[in-house]
Amino acid sequence: MAHVFIIGATGGVGQRLIPLLQDRGHTVSGLHRKPEQADDLRAKGVTPVAGDLMQMDEAAMTAALKGADVVVFSAGAAGSGQDRATVIDGDGPIKMLAAARANGIRRLLVVSVFPEAGRTQDLGAGFEHYMTQKKRADVAIAASDLDWVLLRPGTLKDDDGDGHVTLGRAIAYGDVARGHVAGVLAELVDAPGIRQEALELTDGDMPLPQAVAAMVR
Ligand SMILES: NC(=O)c1ccc[n+]([C@@H]2O[C@H](COP(=O)([O-])OP(=O)(O)OC[C@H]3O[C@@H](n4cnc5c(N)ncnc54)[C@H](OP(=O)(O)O)[C@@H]3O)[C@@H](O)[C@H]2O)c1
Repeated sequence: MAHVFIIGATGGVGQRLIPLLQDRGHTVSGLHRKPEQADDLRAKGVTPVAGDLMQMDEAAMTAALKGADVVVFSAGAAGSGQDRATVIDGDGPIKMLAAARANGIRRLLVVSVFPEAGRTQDLGAGFEHYMTQKKRADVAIAASDLDWVLLRPGTLKDDDGDGHVTLGRAIAYGDVARGHVAGVLAELVDAPGIRQEALELTDGDMPLPQAVAAMVR
């Protein structure tokens, strides 16, 4: 069983991922930035680790990840400004990568974004900046020799989903339930054979476990 550290444990995907991992027998630690979130995480059986991605340097991230076997990055600045997107969406996974190396952690699951997200919608400079930062992080992760997966969901919807998805190396763009993103991440924790992959994810027709199993080379 693995010790999984979630960066973004209090978010829409992260909160759904926690019980899925625990049901599989994994232990979970989670980063939180607000003091009051510690009790909520503890009540869910998660070891809370305090830290704000805006302030954390590599050393702080290295200390936070100590003892983990797998790290999931599902945090995001969520449109709170370009400076925050640079540090959270761009620098965040890069600091995580350095901290994973320092701790000897090989398995990294990063929630990225479809390259064509928002195309033709003219979502503005802030969104373009976010996309640039997500890609900057992806490039750094993908250049590493660790056992990374970049998971690129379509537009996130705040529901659990019906358990059916489309998952592939290149698929048509679409929406995806946050529950499906969490479900695929949980499957990936237990599928070490899927590594050094960028996978795109939408709601779809295939049962989620089968869709993940189909990605094993
Ligand atoms: N929205 C979309 O349509 C879409 C599409 C594709 C990919 N994505 C990506 O999917 C991932 C998950 O999205 P989501 O909707 O589940 O995110 P979310 O609900 O907005 O949650 C974001 C998480 O990041 C944490 N966070 C934000 N700023 C932080 C900071 N300074 N320090 C530490 N933690 C911080 C939040 O903590 P708090 O609880 O303290 O706020 C929360 O746990 C993100 O990486 C996002 O970029 C989103």
